[in-house]
Amino acid sequence: MQPGIALERAKARAAGLYALHGYLPVSLAARTFRNGLRRLRGKADAPVTRLAQVSWSQVLKSRPIELTETDKSDGNVRLSELAVLALAASDVSAGSEIVEIGTFDGRTALNLAINAPAGVSIATLDLPPDQPSALEIEASERRYVDKPTPGARLRRCGNAWRADAARIVQWSGDSATFDWSSHYGRAGLVFVDGSHAYDYARKDSETAMRLVRPKGVVLWHDYGVWPGVTQALEELETARHLGLVHIRGTSLVFWRAP
Ligand SMILES: C[S@@+](CC[C@H](N)C(=O)[O-])C[C@H]1O[C@@H](n2cnc3c(N)ncnc32)[C@H](O)[C@@H]1O
Repeated sequence: MQPGIALERAKARAAGLYALHGYLPVSLAARTFRNGLRRLRGKADAPVTRLAQVSWSQVLKSRPIELTETDKSDGNVRLSELAVLALAASDVSAGSEIVEIGTFDGRTALNLAINAPAGVSIATLDLPPDQPSALEIEASERRYVDKPTPGARLRRCGNAWRADAARIVQWSGDSATFDWSSHYGRAGLVFVDGSHAYDYARKDSETAMRLVRPKGVVLWHDYGVWPGVTQALEELETARHLGLVHIRGTSLVFWRAP
């Protein structure tokens, strides 16, 4: 291995370690402390969520992960969430697929790919800015749709990750109308992070549950952050008792298919 690449990979392993065992517990403790202070001052609590909370280690095996493109832009997941996604990707079995709804700049797709075992294909879908969405999206998320091209980070990533970036297939379309049928039952992991409007959160959840294979995992982003996502996931759990759980210290919801 070239020295430059070995160094990039060592930095990525250190970033993975820090994200899971440093950043995540410290940011969780800081948030708990801030909420305690708010309560003491009689200020309203942060929005209450209803799904059961678990720690990441209750649902995913601990193993070394690598994280690259760690700088967060507006619209990206937090570093701790990127680490949990990387762990989930590392557990997917060869021959299955990883599917992401909502590419944005490709940061999550790239980190899923660098942690996925060989023989796993990775695909990510994004809505082109000039395609009207079939359902209403939130006005405030238009800024994530309106970009010159999705997946910019896939094209400018470091040499160490070029081969993994090349494994990612970018699809263009609307998650509500995209023809997913040839991928049903094939995904070891689906990551739902497209539109955060209620109708999309419901529709994308149905899609994700069809895409996943037995024992495969679905992860949703922005639970407790975007009201549409929170409502859709809580209604789904109330209606179907699937066992959706909220991963503590993140806005991720986890479900493993039976
Ligand atoms: C918050 S960003 C995803 C962020 C990304 N997972 C990350 O952390 O780097 C949401 C993305 O979903 C895309 N999107 C919104 N509505 C969509 C739809 N109906 N179908 C497909 N993609 C959609 C947006 O264009 C945007 O790129």
